[in-house]
Amino acid sequence: MEVKTSLLDNMIGVGDMVLLEPLSEDSFLENLRNRFDHNEIYTYIGSVVISMNPYRSLPIYTPDKVEEYRNRNFYELSPHIYALADEAYRSLRDQDKDQCILITGESGAGKTEASKLVMSYVAAVCGKGQEVNKVKEQLLQSNPVLEAFGNAKTVRNDNSSRFGKYMDIEFDFKGDPLGGVISNYLLEKSRVVKQPRGERNFHVFYQLLSGASDDTLKKLKLNRDLSKYNYLSLDSAAVNGLDDAANFRTVRNAMQIVGFMEDEVQSVLELVAAVLKLGNIEFKPESRCNGTDESRIKDKNDLKEMCELLGIEQSVLERAFSYRTVEAKLEKVSTTLNVAQAYYARDALAKNLYSRLFSWLVTRINESIKAQTKSRHKVMGVLDIYGFEIFEDNSFEQFIINYCNEKLQQIFIELTLREEQEEYVREGIEWTNIEYFNNAIICDLIENHQNGILAMLDEECLRPGTVTDETFLDKLNTICAEHQHFESRLSKNSKFLTDHSLPHNCFRIQHYAGKVLYRVEGFVDKNNDLLYRDLSQAMYKATHSLIKQLFPEGNPGKVNLKRPPTAGFQFKASVGTLMRNLQTKNPNYIRCIKPNDKKASHIFTESLVRHQARYLGLMENVRVRRAGYAFRQAYEPCLERYKMLCKRTWPHWRGPAREGVEVLMADLQVPADEFSYGRSKIFIRNPRTLFFLEERRRQCLQDLATLIQKIYRGWKCRSQFLLLKKSQIVVAAWYRRYAQQKKYQKIKSATTVVQSYTRGWQARKLLRELKYQKRCEEAVTTIAAFWHGTQARRELRRLKEEARRKHAVAVIWAYWQGLKVRREYRKFFRANAGKKIYEFTIQRIMQKYFLGLKSTMPSMSPIEKNWPARPYIFLDGVHTALRRIFHLWRCKKYRSQFTEEKKAVYEEKLEASEIFKDKKALYPSSVSQPFKGDYLEISKNPKYQKLNSAVDEKVLLADVVNKINRANGKGTARIFLLTKKSFVLADQKTGQVKASVPLPDLTSVSVSTQSDGFFALRLKEGSASAIKGDFLLSSEHLIEIITKIHRIGATAADREQLNIDISDEFLVQFKQDKVCVKFIEGAPKNGNSVSCKRKNNRLLEVSVPTSP
Ligand SMILES: Nc1ncnc2c1ncn2[C@@H]1O[C@H](COP(=O)(O)OP(=O)(O)O)[C@@H](O)[C@H]1O
Ligand SMILES: [Mg+2]
Repeated sequence: MEVKTSLLDNMIGVGDMVLLEPLSEDSFLENLRNRFDHNEIYTYIGSVVISMNPYRSLPIYTPDKVEEYRNRNFYELSPHIYALADEAYRSLRDQDKDQCILITGESGAGKTEASKLVMSYVAAVCGKGQEVNKVKEQLLQSNPVLEAFGNAKTVRNDNSSRFGKYMDIEFDFKGDPLGGVISNYLLEKSRVVKQPRGERNFHVFYQLLSGASDDTLKKLKLNRDLSKYNYLSLDSAAVNGLDDAANFRTVRNAMQIVGFMEDEVQSVLELVAAVLKLGNIEFKPESRCNGTDESRIKDKNDLKEMCELLGIEQSVLERAFSYRTVEAKLEKVSTTLNVAQAYYARDALAKNLYSRLFSWLVTRINESIKAQTKSRHKVMGVLDIYGFEIFEDNSFEQFIINYCNEKLQQIFIELTLREEQEEYVREGIEWTNIEYFNNAIICDLIENHQNGILAMLDEECLRPGTVTDETFLDKLNTICAEHQHFESRLSKNSKFLTDHSLPHNCFRIQHYAGKVLYRVEGFVDKNNDLLYRDLSQAMYKATHSLIKQLFPEGNPGKVNLKRPPTAGFQFKASVGTLMRNLQTKNPNYIRCIKPNDKKASHIFTESLVRHQARYLGLMENVRVRRAGYAFRQAYEPCLERYKMLCKRTWPHWRGPAREGVEVLMADLQVPADEFSYGRSKIFIRNPRTLFFLEERRRQCLQDLATLIQKIYRGWKCRSQFLLLKKSQIVVAAWYRRYAQQKKYQKIKSATTVVQSYTRGWQARKLLRELKYQKRCEEAVTTIAAFWHGTQARRELRRLKEEARRKHAVAVIWAYWQGLKVRREYRKFFRANAGKKIYEFTIQRIMQKYFLGLKSTMPSMSPIEKNWPARPYIFLDGVHTALRRIFHLWRCKKYRSQFTEEKKAVYEEKLEASEIFKDKKALYPSSVSQPFKGDYLEISKNPKYQKLNSAVDEKVLLADVVNKINRANGKGTARIFLLTKKSFVLADQKTGQVKASVPLPDLTSVSVSTQSDGFFALRLKEGSASAIKGDFLLSSEHLIEIITKIHRIGATAADREQLNIDISDEFLVQFKQDKVCVKFIEGAPKNGNSVSCKRKNNRLLEVSVPTSP
């Protein structure tokens, strides 16, 4: 739901002071009061937000409010700090402009609260996500930590910031926060040791003592009782509405979120405790014999505990509180401290310790919250610096704080008043200058390099000789006496000589926000900010790592004799940097006003507000705004934005932009005094006019949207219609085509039917005619045929008769001729014909016989028995003769292919066949075995070399035979050699000759008829060889051996033919005895082997298995 409020709706008074009528200081204040009374604490002066401190919580910071102000125009809703924050955030995100938010106002006017509101608004509207939320949370939680250590209750403000803070929040291009950087400015450290009446020390001391657990306090050696600590003023220890104990927990929690380690938190608390202990160290005077006063520590207990906390040797610190060493060049001089000096040293140490701890905290927070990415980012700076302060007793701190506020006022004047007026001049707008107070002169009084108050203070501090606050005041009195804004009783200017409100030890400055009286006491010391080197060295010696880190100058290795820059100098430099930084950014102002001095709600002290409004220059601000123009914009974007409001500029304006804007304004009838044309910009005087233009634009945009909608809808309907129409034509065309096709096909088939009927009828008619014609033709033909037939048959009969007669004539003539020839040739015919026919027949038969024989010739094998059958008996003799001749011829052919060796083999085979064929059963198996002769390869085998050399003849046969033992019939293997002249038996293993028998001594050989290999070699009786008797041997090659022996006998001329005796019983001569060898057929019980047994003296029985 859109919230329908506007700046002008339900307005209490006026929301923007620019609209105030009549404009006077009274009406201005009245407007503020009116609004304040109605809880409207925010009021605009153009884009500046005035914020009144309500001193109570108002329900205007809810999440709903955030949503309400989100992405809305600045002037659209009633004034709110969120509108300013939203404007700044959006122009940062959308226009890529770095922003700064400058919050000014007196102490207690609500600056810190305002800065927190801005940050929380930005956090609420920017991007979301785990990482982004963490960054946001850390940025927001840095506040409670810094407030605990840097804020304190003052008379003006229960939570007054005692340091200046500037925080840069960094965003990425999407507007998501990336991180931040905090700068701190000059902590009011004097508060650590002394607080004005009605004020408190920094919150953290009270928070620690009331919020920490007993255990923690014990560890820190602290006591919960506030009254035990000298540094804590008692009269205002409890503050209304401030729960220190709860805040302590908040701070601990915030420290954890920001990323402090547990031991870091512990170290920080230890330092805080050490400061409290330090305050309790007291000194007493002790007179020395040389007359000087020396200080002594009264009660060393606190010193001891503090040293234990920080890990410092007690004696070192004790000495540092009693002596001061001054180093000059190479000399070191030690002087004793009196009681006052000892107190001074103690307080200086406490202040330094605390302020350094605070700076360390800022650095540590920055480490946690700094942006992680190095990418370019946009920056929103939020400045919450201590406000202008006027106390009863103002010292160096107030001087510095007020100087800073002067500078901020300066920048405000620069940017809003002067810059604005200068722009009018630049743009050539008619302009009557508005007078305003420029505080540059006051800034100069303070910061001028040569005779500014700060420069003189520095000069005084660095000057040799005795320097006191009084000498400093004297110097001021001489140098600044003439300055309009400087007042002093002792100045040459006699004007103040009688002014009793101005004490002698003070000077007064007329600040832009009022006159402030400064007491010079302490200026020199505070500017010097001196900490005795003995103390810083003592701190550096501590074992506590944080405290060591805080006092780096105490490192004896790095003694620096140069003076450190003064506090005033440092502050001036950092304020200068800050101002330069702010000037690069787009400023957004929040001016905070305090309605009363009582921190009370609902009270509006007019004089107080009037004073603030005056020194803040708010009236001038309004006047400049009113005399000037509320709004300005370059011509091009202006024309672009509003061109739809005029027919002539919409949709395009061709001429220069300025003319376009002029036409536009004329057309809209905007009153001429409501705007002015600058050189490059149009200036609109009143926000009203701008709202008017915006409103018209909004309406016009609605109208335009309606128009666009209308045209679009029309176009859509029309194109829909055209499409339908087009489609309808297509459909109709297709349908017509289809209908016509159908109709045509119907007509076509009807025509065909009619046509076929007609054609049929015509055809039948024709057919009838043709048939009739044909029948007529057939009748004619038949008649003609019958007629021709009759004619032909008559002719045929005549021709037949004629032919019969001719044939009869020829036959008769032939018979007659034959008879004549036969009678003539009878005498030649019978004498030769029979013989000739016979010879011819015989010749033919012989020819056929030989040709037939050629084709039925048998094969060329000599053992072929076949011969074709004889065809005629009379060819019997020829046929048998031809068979014989053919057989002889083919045997000759067969023989002629043999070599000599083969012939010899075959001759041997032939001889074997002559000897054994059909006589011995062993023979058939030997036919297929070739006769190898030398089975032992006697001449080649080296084993038989000796044996070979023993026989001088050529070896015809060499084989292993079994020599049958005469005694038992068992066989012994012997080598059997056969030469042409003898046979030799030799030992098989050794090759030793056992017997050598010349062949002539061999008379006969006996073998059996069976398939065994036994043979007996019978020797001639009485010969030398026969002494031992005949040989009975057995061999596988029996047939070959006997054949070879027989052949040698046949060829030898000197011997009778060898007898070969084949029978199954023969006698063998063994020495003197004759033994009968008998062969029987045995059952094959010993397998197929032949067995030989000696039966008795006369009988040797050989059993031969029956051959299968
Ligand atoms: N917008 C506000 N709503 C409610 N209370 C406020 C608001 N602004 C300020 N206050 C009150 O005024 C007190 C002082 O404000 P603070 O911002 O600390 O002042 P400054 O920083 O200007 O010294 C706050 O503690 C708070 O109680
Ligand atoms: Mg503050």
